Amino acid sequence: MAEIVGAGEALERALALLQGGDVVAIPTETVYGLAGDATNGIGVARIFEAKGRPRFNPLIAHVADMAMAERIALFDPLSKKLAIAFWPGPLTLVLPQRPGNGIHPLVTAGLDTIALRMPRGFGGDLIARLGRPLAAPSANSSGKISATTAQAVAADLGARIRLVVDGGATPVGLESTIVKAEAGRLRLLRPGGIAAEDIEAAVGMELLRGGGAGVEAPGMLASHYAPGAAVRLDARTVAEGEALLAFGNLRAAGWQRATAFRNLSETGDLREAATNLFAYMQDLDRSGARTIAVEPIPFDGLGEAINDRLSRAAAPRDNTQPTT
Ligand code: TXA
Ligand code: MG
Repeated sequence: MAEIVGAGEALERALALLQGGDVVAIPTETVYGLAGDATNGIGVARIFEAKGRPRFNPLIAHVADMAMAERIALFDPLSKKLAIAFWPGPLTLVLPQRPGNGIHPLVTAGLDTIALRMPRGFGGDLIARLGRPLAAPSANSSGKISATTAQAVAADLGARIRLVVDGGATPVGLESTIVKAEAGRLRLLRPGGIAAEDIEAAVGMELLRGGGAGVEAPGMLASHYAPGAAVRLDARTVAEGEALLAFGNLRAAGWQRATAFRNLSETGDLREAATNLFAYMQDLDRSGARTIAVEPIPFDGLGEAINDRLSRAAAPRDNTQPTT
């Protein structure tokens, strides 16, 4: 059962857990977040596991200051203006990633953009001490509403995490507003803790709404990572010219033929597989194979999310939205 510790005493405990690749529930000004080190794949996989997320939706990376934000993402002038006006605060900006930023691809679900936010209070202090960004979705199990008190977090996720940092009831109580710059305009991807009108006033222009290449609704992302190669699931054999994405220690027949090879987890560990998924798909895609054959992956635990993501990658391309 998770321990609830007051924000005044929790900093060292939280740091130790995060440094060890574990997750911690923390207060932010919007809602409680379930945080893990955004550069550590195991920590990020544990977030999805604890939430019981059926899919790998991309997560928000939380930063301590502008220097950290600029090491992770590339700011256009409009986004920079919003960051200066509203950070720290309940605003999330979707920005192009800076190559080599060290963010684990599971955080962004393999996208080339990243959602960034600078939180107020305990979260900001913790990130500054850790010296690395924290990936954090709202601290609720999948399908439930976001938690705004430490007690609500513990009642929901308490059996699956070790520490809930208690900062009292969150002042905003609503998730952050998510905005993405698009060709000199700004699109509202999710209404939230900062009113759209306040953002419009700060930049002197109206926000675009609806549609777009980003999220349609909270948790709904239209553009998914789709490799250039075709993807063939549940492969029991490997055909000529195929790359192989393996799992566990039983190989598909003819695996020696594979033009490129990665094993998500030799020991059949689904958490390890989740942390390797996006990077290995990208490696095999870059190998130039026409098809990536994927060995069967069980559906229990994180396997459901892994299979969900793989089946999206394998879906017919003509009804797939272009990724941006
Ligand atoms: O206030 C908040 O935003 C809280 C606190 C903990 O920071 N976090 C939160 O996270 O609400 P979550 O995971 O529940 O919602 C994040 C939203 C999702 O709808 C996700 O699809 C979107 O952000 N998102 C993340 N990365 C994105 C990207 N690269 N492009 C478009 N949308 C993205
Ligand atoms: Mg949420």
